[in-house]
Amino acid sequence: MPDQEPAANNSLETGHSKGRYFMRFTPGQRYLHAVLFTTFLGLAATGLPMRFSESIWAREFATIVGGFGAIIFFHKLFAVVLTLAFLIHVRDLFTRAFIHREKGIFWGSTSMVANWKDAKDLFGHIRWFLGLGPKPQFERYAYWEKFDYWAVFWGMIVIGFSGYAMWFAPFFAKFLPGWALNAVLVIHSEEGLLAILFIFSIHFVNTHLRPDSFPMDMVVFTGVESEEEFKHKRTLEYERLKAQGKLEGRIADAPGSWQINFSKVVGFTAILIGLVLLVLTLSAYFRE
Ligand code: HEM
Repeated sequence: MPDQEPAANNSLETGHSKGRYFMRFTPGQRYLHAVLFTTFLGLAATGLPMRFSESIWAREFATIVGGFGAIIFFHKLFAVVLTLAFLIHVRDLFTRAFIHREKGIFWGSTSMVANWKDAKDLFGHIRWFLGLGPKPQFERYAYWEKFDYWAVFWGMIVIGFSGYAMWFAPFFAKFLPGWALNAVLVIHSEEGLLAILFIFSIHFVNTHLRPDSFPMDMVVFTGVESEEEFKHKRTLEYERLKAQGKLEGRIADAPGSWQINFSKVVGFTAILIGLVLLVLTLSAYFRE
């Protein structure tokens, strides 16, 4: 997702916290993420029992929700909602890039497209981990955040296409040879497992479990982060906005207690479900 600069909000710090807060994600970006993670959890929770249908937990789960027919029904329901969210996102990108001709979508400091600095940051980070150099400083999106974004973007195309090819097999059979229809099942199944392993291990560790954010980074729920966090995690973006005189325009209200508590409940529930699904996937996979 190329960046959408959050709208200016010049209110000074409010709420219970001391210090200034800055807007990182717009409400639209937060809603998109909410739909993405709820449908993804739903797709993983319904896809895994189909994939490992011989496991005891898969059969127990099927009994609770009303059988494998119900599991397939819910899988398709979540898939349709996720597809709609993805199509809305792609439509927004096209509108911003080709109709509004917004600059910086494909290149530059706020773009999601990887650039030479990302490659240097990756190696710089490895050097820092080994104690051989200074810690790299990041712009609006670090290289691993761009990687997460594109992994989901292309994964969505592969999983979506193979999923619909299975769902509407008689229609796709008019264009695809028989072996391709068998291949889509393997592709969907393996890509689904890969996505589950990636999101519930690498994405969780990168975003929530690393020392800077442990036990959970709530910015995608509240939309805002403290000045200290902003300066520390995205130093180059902070300095760029300051030099451009745009920093004040990003000041936002501090999150209210209800917002923080709600984010904690939703976030921890999602992480917990994800980790349970990860353990079930790994144990079933290695027992196969
Ligand atoms: C647009 C998105 C998607 C569509 C249209 C879709 C559709 C389908 C369909 C039609 C099936 C076969 C159901 C049957 O046996 O009748 C299936 C199976 C499955 N799906 Fe999806 N799905 C989507 C996304 C996902 C995602 C995101 C995941 C992973 C998180 C996933 C994981 C799986 C798994 C593991 C299976 C079982 C495959 C097997 O039996 O080996 N799906 N999906």
